[in-house]
Amino acid sequence: MIHRKSAAEIAIMQEGGRVVAKVLQRMKEVVRPGITTMEIAEEADHMARILDVVPAFKGYNGYPAVICVSVNEEVVHGIPSRSRVLRDGDIVGLDFGALHNGFYADAAVTLSVGETLPETLRLLDVTRDALYIGIEAAIEGNRIGDISHAVQSHVEKNGMSVVKVFVGHGIGRNLHEEPQVPNYGDSQWGVRLKKGMTLAIEPMVNAGSDDVRVLDDGWTAVTSDGSLSAHFEHTIAVTENGPKILTIDETFGEENRN
Ligand code: MF3
Ligand code: CO
Repeated sequence: MIHRKSAAEIAIMQEGGRVVAKVLQRMKEVVRPGITTMEIAEEADHMARILDVVPAFKGYNGYPAVICVSVNEEVVHGIPSRSRVLRDGDIVGLDFGALHNGFYADAAVTLSVGETLPETLRLLDVTRDALYIGIEAAIEGNRIGDISHAVQSHVEKNGMSVVKVFVGHGIGRNLHEEPQVPNYGDSQWGVRLKKGMTLAIEPMVNAGSDDVRVLDDGWTAVTSDGSLSAHFEHTIAVTENGPKILTIDETFGEENRN
């Protein structure tokens, strides 16, 4: 069942979403060559405490950390580690969710560490653009498939592949709700979008093949061919005035395009 949210509920999700955005903005300040992925997680935890939200992922199906930190060929769900040190030229995906007044918000960004190759930056640009193109399709009367198709077309047009085994999702009183939001498929597919639907749209894009596998830690998804992978995510609401991004900090200004 799809839970549509009232304007008041969307406003609560927007408050939580603003905090998620602030946490991810802070991550941009701390990510640099030499930092460990655990130090990144500790800073996210610290920020969540200061901003008074409950981190959503820790304990979710047994996930052990407050934030997912996925380096290079890691696609999603990387587990922070004291021994994983970020190096110049790496990319790092940071995925953070928060529970605020009974509602979840969920977002992700992929950052470059130090000096990165132009082709690596292109992967980040294509993935970020795919997210925003997908969001633009989240209008009343469209279908879920319009989002999926928009994301997939943009990625494949650029010679990259979308991951199929993980999908975006409805979000609200639960971190994951119906409907699923795949990053591939036909525009005729899926339910029609209606005002009040809240969705986490999250393209995961591989520079090489779309095939992924999960490491022995039971969480970390990596590309099977070792190619780089990027992930961007926003929580959005479908409104009568079009898609509204909830995981932004409007007070931050124009720079806030994750
Ligand atoms: N953004 C991811 C998702 O929506 C993060 C979940 S990680 C988990 O599925 F640890 F919470 F599972
Ligand atoms: Co998500």
